[in-house]
Amino acid sequence: MLDYKHPEPPQQDKRWKMVRAEMRRHGYSPHALIQVLHAVQSAFGYLDNESLRYVAQALRVPLSRVYGVATFYHYFTLKPLGEHLCVVCTGTACYIKGVPQLLTAMKDEFGIGLEETTANRKLSVTSARCVGACGLAPVVVVDNEAHGNLTPDDLVSRLKEVTEK
Ligand code: FES
Repeated sequence: MLDYKHPEPPQQDKRWKMVRAEMRRHGYSPHALIQVLHAVQSAFGYLDNESLRYVAQALRVPLSRVYGVATFYHYFTLKPLGEHLCVVCTGTACYIKGVPQLLTAMKDEFGIGLEETTANRKLSVTSARCVGACGLAPVVVVDNEAHGNLTPDDLVSRLKEVTEK
């Protein structure tokens, strides 16, 4: 039987080395799909169509399954994110304690809603179902730093602070 030749990455980019190392570590197993998508996103910041096709070929997983996983898990993003990331907790406790008002304030100030990025690519807003700090609701995580008991004004000031640096 002929040896299977693993496909080449879509571009000559050093970051693919990291992804290939992850694939090798898992013996190019289809079961490593999530870990490999994770490696692609860590390397490139998001998953584009070309990357998803490459991962599907390399792990010999149907493309539909790769898309299914990439769109099912909230962690994965198919679009490049902005320089700063604001994750709004939309779990029940946070929602009841004022998430709609936070979203309105962000829309008014920055012109973007959930899963959107400002035109200058400074800020992206995504959501999470519960970040595990319900006692501090409503909670927003800005660049990995959690902020609780937020008012719309607090949130806008915090976001202005990070995006205007
Ligand atoms: S619902 Fe927001 S932290 Fe739990």
